[in-house]
Amino acid sequence: MIDAVISLCKRRGFVFPSSEIYGGLSAIYDYGPYGVELVNNIKAHWWKWMVQYREDIVGLDSAIFMHPRIWEASGHVGGFSDPLAECKQCHNRLRVDHVLEGMGVESDENMSEEEINTLFNKHKEKIKCPKCGTSNFTDVKKFNLLVESNLGNFTGDASKEPVYLRGETCQGIYVNYKNILDTSRVKIPFGVAQIGKAFRNEITARQFIFRTREFEQMEMQYFVHPDKEMDAYEELKNYRWEYYTSLGIKEENLRWKKHDNLVFYAKEAYDIEYNYPFGFKELEGVHARGNYDLTQHSTHCGKSLEYIDQQTKEKYIPHIVESSVGVGRTLLALLVDAYTEEKVEDDTRVVLKLNPALSPIKAAIMPLQKNKPEIVALAKKIFADLKKERMCEYDETGSIGKRYRRQDEIGTPYCITVDFDSLEDNSVTVRDRDSMKQERVAIQRLEEFLHKNI
Ligand code: GAP
Repeated sequence: MIDAVISLCKRRGFVFPSSEIYGGLSAIYDYGPYGVELVNNIKAHWWKWMVQYREDIVGLDSAIFMHPRIWEASGHVGGFSDPLAECKQCHNRLRVDHVLEGMGVESDENMSEEEINTLFNKHKEKIKCPKCGTSNFTDVKKFNLLVESNLGNFTGDASKEPVYLRGETCQGIYVNYKNILDTSRVKIPFGVAQIGKAFRNEITARQFIFRTREFEQMEMQYFVHPDKEMDAYEELKNYRWEYYTSLGIKEENLRWKKHDNLVFYAKEAYDIEYNYPFGFKELEGVHARGNYDLTQHSTHCGKSLEYIDQQTKEKYIPHIVESSVGVGRTLLALLVDAYTEEKVEDDTRVVLKLNPALSPIKAAIMPLQKNKPEIVALAKKIFADLKKERMCEYDETGSIGKRYRRQDEIGTPYCITVDFDSLEDNSVTVRDRDSMKQERVAIQRLEEFLHKNI
């Protein structure tokens, strides 16, 4: 199934491996013409839910490069690492925590190198290299995931401290918390939402766009009074579940997974997992983070990040609950969820049953015959009118059946065909992607029809 989705992504221009004509760059992908439409629709939908519909959440777009001290304060310089062992035979690298998890052995991301080595050694005999099948590994080493850059290092001095590409977008929110508080009309409780690129030196990066080294995150950090943290957390969990159902994802393919091993400051953490073709895996994290983030930044920058309640005069460091999800993981979940192969007479049609609001193209306008100038002119006029409000495509090549199939594959909810009768009765045939039913709709009602149904 994942192969069919990957093949569709490549064939129809949703996702391409990065720099492909140069042999590709591992774990980096580009979004093609339909991919970028879907990405933009996912981000717009998320923004609607996380900013537009909410009176208590505002948006932010912070820079990718930030002061290096931020990543010390956040704990990323010291602790943001993956445990890795190398096969001595073929030099294949294994994510030890993932291998152990696959054997049903619990490991904890906070374990020291020594602790994870002890656990790995206990089970080592049963582990075989997935590439060459031998069982001869190096000790486990923890590798830091932060991606370094030489920004501002004009002399090439190797001893100069690197500036990192951000490993998560939320740090930009924490360090702007006071700016936002001082300049907008927000009061606790309030949230700040941001969409942006993040970079991680992921060691094992397989499973297509599920785990990549450059990816986009959609994160919302909600600042609350310490006593209200767990109530806000429950509300956020419910809201995020509702959001996924609004995307049209089948609920049976979603589930909650509680984190058993919490980082020391966290109160509670859950993942929303999606049933990918390679099993239920993390789609989003919803975390109750206590006052750790603001306390850390306050200590490291030497400035108070306390909140003063103007009514009660109470002073406190706000607690944070967060929602964090990747755009790529959402896109993959949506494609997998929507991908359908259906028998139609002697044929199999591939159809992406996406929520129409997310479909890259909302309507395809087709003249029944391309050598009839009056029909072509009318179809082009309808296309010119409808595309002002939404992404549409004009398609006149191949049989009408082939054109329908092309649009089914990319999830276009409506195909609009202009024929001879259209010249007489000012109506067109509108064909529904999922039911394949056709109905006549007056040309002057098309705008209203699409508005109502998408
Ligand atoms: N601020 C919290 C945070 O970044 P995370 O669990 O490391 O938490 C949150 O990441 C989400 O970002 C994940 O649930 C996933 O959707 C996405 N994500 C993380 N690493 C990723 C990667 N290497 N490739 C694609 N998406 C990733």
